[in-house]
Amino acid sequence: MALRNIIKLPDPRLRLVSAPVQAVDDDLRRLVEDMFETMYDAPGIGLAAIQVGVPQRVVTLDLAKKDEPKDPRVFVNPEVLWRSDENATHEEGCLSIPEYYEEVERPAKVKVRHLDLDGKVQEIEAEGLLATCLQHEIDHLNGVLFIDYLSKLKRSMVIKRFTKAAKREAEEA
Ligand code: NI
Repeated sequence: MALRNIIKLPDPRLRLVSAPVQAVDDDLRRLVEDMFETMYDAPGIGLAAIQVGVPQRVVTLDLAKKDEPKDPRVFVNPEVLWRSDENATHEEGCLSIPEYYEEVERPAKVKVRHLDLDGKVQEIEAEGLLATCLQHEIDHLNGVLFIDYLSKLKRSMVIKRFTKAAKREAEEA
């Protein structure tokens, strides 16, 4: 296992549309292991492969609370089959936009089809935090970030802030 570097706003790779995984093989399982290690280290509750610079449709999640046992979940080639008309609002953050949180409104429930690490097709119905996280991470696979749901003003402010920070970091390096 290896820790991977999490790319941050305004890295243009965050806007890529990731490609479907062609084969559930050892290379993929290694990527998933690295994603979990990177996500737990951050720490975060969700990660899309593109956030470690790999444009493949892979998502890792672990929504277990601090005092609960780990609950790692993997979604390969996830696809939203159905969204509820009813919406819910949750505060969201993103490891690629660190320490920035805003409320986002999304469908309250979704049905998602995906492959597991054995290459088997799975379907789940999600609500609450799981529904929010799945939609947030699947958005990453399509180059969409949670700040895209905010007002233009808020979005441009946060992009400006992270662009400045990246510039400073590049100058110091
Ligand atoms: Ni994110």
